[in-house]
Amino acid sequence: MIKKFYITTPLYYVNASPHIGHSYTNIAADTLARSMRKSLGKDNVWFLTGTDEHGQKIQRAAEAIKLTPLEFSDGMVGKFKELWKSLNISYDDFIRTTEPRHVQTVQRVLEILYKKGDIYEDRYEGWYCTPCETFWIESQLIEGACPDCKRKVEKISETNYFFRLSKYQSWLMEHIRQNRNFIRPDSRCEEVSRFLELNALNDLCISRPIERLNWGIPLPFSPNHVTYVWFDALINYISAVGSFDESGRYQSKWWPADLHLIGKDILRQHAVYWPIMLRALDIALPKCVFAHGWWMINEDKMSKSNGNVVNPLEMVEKFGIDVYRYFLLRDVPFGLDGNFSEAAIIKRFNSDLANDLGNLVYRTLTMVEKYFQGQIPDVKIGVDNDQIKAIVESIGNLDKCVAKSLDEPNFSAALECIWKLIGLANKYVEETKPWNLAKENKIDELKQFIRVLVEVISAVDEALMPFMPQTATLIKEQVGDHEIKKGSPLFPRIETRPKS
Ligand code: MSP
Repeated sequence: MIKKFYITTPLYYVNASPHIGHSYTNIAADTLARSMRKSLGKDNVWFLTGTDEHGQKIQRAAEAIKLTPLEFSDGMVGKFKELWKSLNISYDDFIRTTEPRHVQTVQRVLEILYKKGDIYEDRYEGWYCTPCETFWIESQLIEGACPDCKRKVEKISETNYFFRLSKYQSWLMEHIRQNRNFIRPDSRCEEVSRFLELNALNDLCISRPIERLNWGIPLPFSPNHVTYVWFDALINYISAVGSFDESGRYQSKWWPADLHLIGKDILRQHAVYWPIMLRALDIALPKCVFAHGWWMINEDKMSKSNGNVVNPLEMVEKFGIDVYRYFLLRDVPFGLDGNFSEAAIIKRFNSDLANDLGNLVYRTLTMVEKYFQGQIPDVKIGVDNDQIKAIVESIGNLDKCVAKSLDEPNFSAALECIWKLIGLANKYVEETKPWNLAKENKIDELKQFIRVLVEVISAVDEALMPFMPQTATLIKEQVGDHEIKKGSPLFPRIETRPKS
């Protein structure tokens, strides 16, 4: 059987413009998708992203500027798509929760679970946080406010529909125990396991009465309710890639997902609600849910409600797409939180991109121009000294080293494998002193020396493609097979004024 790879990102809420936190998940997913296309072939990879468009937040945001929720969403979808284009995000499909293919699947799921008795009607009384669209019990409130977003909660009492999460709790605990890679990294798996050990799951309220909210998918068995936005949104992962047949069996070429990439803020929905929904539907579970950390600004999570969002387009304009991609993937081990600042980008830029990668490419091109009139010497590498041996070995191991790190996935470690080789090559230049070889007319040695550098650059270039596609393409154009086309330096140093 041909191996396939189906990767997803969260569907982003359209009530606010995308910020660097959103772009982080998509850049990570894009890098993995590109890398898997290289190893499995592009027909065997499916990368899904999209937008989450129902619910009160969006209804209110639209009302505030006198648009219908759909008109409002249409505009925001444009912004998300524009950003993904600017960041070179190579998604295969973009799903909107307002599309008929999704709405139909959600209604089918509701029907199946209602018929099965896993969805039932009951009365709910308690506290509700509108921005988070979450129910809270009195004891969970902090000083009368939502424990997540700290905003005011509303008291409500209404008839609703509930999904039997509780029925499947012990099954889920067992599944997590048996599949240690289901929730990653390990710390998140621990977190969910502990939560399930310490708490009895309440059944999940999956409806909202239309008098309070009408912007949602109608429940097929109750004209007075729409679907809770989380129950609706999670289903996108199956509605985008398949459908139910007459008998209620789900059919798909891509399912199960190999990787749901999410931020740690939405772990519970993906690692508790979602697997239980699938189990109740008798559908296979995703292989892995990976929750990455948060980008913070001065120790605060970046979010619209914290008022500290950074616009990714501004960063791209200032530093370039690939510098931005490189920084996010390299600066923080995937899974941990990181602090975002322009100073940190500049630091990475000057050391890793200008000094290491940019310098290696530029000095090599300069030497090919100077010593060989732009023609790359066509010689075989003879492994006759330890330094060359180490470089050749490192070239040979590069793919494996990168693939192993991406398998975790640990982008930072994967990039370190590439930079280790760049470091070896730069050291080789400094120690070989090619200008002396030229002076002493040691042409064969000089040819071999250049050839080694060109081989390093091609290997680095190939490995960099998924992370920095634009830069990798540019390097390929400059360092051709036989002839070079020298351009200006890829990453000219950014001078920062010393603080006075
Ligand atoms: N609509 C839900 C997800 C439904 S998935 C079926 C949602 N949307 S969101 O717009 O709030 O985006 C959530 C995701 O954006 C997070 O899980 C994370 O992937 C990313 N990020 C949002 N803020 C972030 C940071 N400050 N840092 C890193 N990523 C964060 O929740």
